[in-house]
Amino acid sequence: MSNSDYIKLPNLSNYWVPFTANRQFKAMPRLFKAAKGNYYTTIDDREILDGTAGLWCTPAGHGREEIASAVGKQLLTLDYAPAFQSSHPLAFEAANRVAEYMPAGLDRIFFTNSGSESADTALKIALAYHRVCGNPLRNKLIGRERGYHGVNFGGIAVGGIAGNRKAFGNGLAGVDHIRHPLDIAKNAFTKGVPEDGGIALANEFEQRILTLHDPSTIAALIVEPMQGSAGVIIPPTGYLKRLREICDKYGILLIFDEVITGFGRLGTKWGADYFGVTPDILTCAKGLTNGVVPMGAVAVKREIYDAFMEKSPAGAIELPHGYTYSAIPIACAAAIATLDIFSTEQLENRAAGLSAYFEQAAHSLKGLPMVKDIRNIGLVAGIEFEPIAGKAGAFAFATYLKCYELGLHVRYTGDIIAISPPLTIEKLEIDRIFNTLADAIKFVASQGEAGLNASNYLKNEQQWAEQ
Ligand SMILES: Cc1ncc(COP(=O)(O)O)c(C=O)c1O
Repeated sequence: MSNSDYIKLPNLSNYWVPFTANRQFKAMPRLFKAAKGNYYTTIDDREILDGTAGLWCTPAGHGREEIASAVGKQLLTLDYAPAFQSSHPLAFEAANRVAEYMPAGLDRIFFTNSGSESADTALKIALAYHRVCGNPLRNKLIGRERGYHGVNFGGIAVGGIAGNRKAFGNGLAGVDHIRHPLDIAKNAFTKGVPEDGGIALANEFEQRILTLHDPSTIAALIVEPMQGSAGVIIPPTGYLKRLREICDKYGILLIFDEVITGFGRLGTKWGADYFGVTPDILTCAKGLTNGVVPMGAVAVKREIYDAFMEKSPAGAIELPHGYTYSAIPIACAAAIATLDIFSTEQLENRAAGLSAYFEQAAHSLKGLPMVKDIRNIGLVAGIEFEPIAGKAGAFAFATYLKCYELGLHVRYTGDIIAISPPLTIEKLEIDRIFNTLADAIKFVASQGEAGLNASNYLKNEQQWAEQ
């Protein structure tokens, strides 16, 4: 092999890669150098189909010139304006646009920089709301098993993934969880929303948790309409509606974390629209700027905002909370340009139109070795594998690596592969996603024990130069 066949790697030592097995990654780096439309280009010039819209965050596809040019212009016009005690017009315009896109009534918008910050902001607003309304003892927060609300202390407290919590101490006090709604024994290979069990499961919230705490102490319940990060868990019919009724009955705020389900992912603007349930507070991020500038938003019902305005002492800062980069001008420009794309290209409708085809393609994997369940909704699919004793996640990780070798990017979490392509995906590309995934699953399964060894992948693909 000549020197020119080698790919020059950057020095990999300094960067601590998030949510990644760094030692393993640095031995086998997967680096992208460009992206356009529904494809990435790797540093060794391979084309990779994006089966995950980045990290669920680029619904409009990559390299959108409208967004790039809006951000570029904004940088040279007003790069920064102090976010506290002063602001800039684009912040208000972005809030107006986001409010228009929200479910009716959720039209007061607080900007953050991520999904994690949105979750913590929503929890703080809920606690402060009850306090400003004269109910400071309503201060407990309820989350859900397998919930993911980002990585900040509030988010991991209400989140329900043990691996994300165990290393970080005792977290917040006054937090409890309800059960997650995944029931593979009953609902394996259901296409779309499972029919049964939703009401009974939601009733547990009232029967079990509320009798343990007393409803008057509960500030808020936070759930993702569809649990994405912990493996595509779709609530059964009637479940979210019943949670809404219980919250209403006891004066508990209902928070939907729509960081994944927002911006057309389910074939509607929001999960709230898909399930016909409006929360009191809705959080989002990711697709808000098509993933290109960090930005999140928390939308609250007008009554909540009004309570802060009416009941806080005159001249007081009604909510002592915010970030240096809340509504930074380039994020506002990116959000407005993204919402323009959604409006002209009707990406939610596009997703809805493709969802039956996508469902069919996803369920074509039924019957392949190791496939234990397939779940789908909108343009999301989760493929769950049989667990292997002592090797949690190994089969899914190997499948992910094999897909990457074959030119497809998928996401793995535990024993589950999640697919969530850009909403700009074409039918032929949907075929390619699931055909490639099928080939990868068959390959890994055919290799037995060796198939689970990550170092057996990407070997011949990449020839890295010495650093
Ligand atoms: C439902 C949900 N909430 C919050 C987050 C955290 O978002 P971020 O990584 O932008 O902090 C995520 C990320 O995937 C998410 O899926």
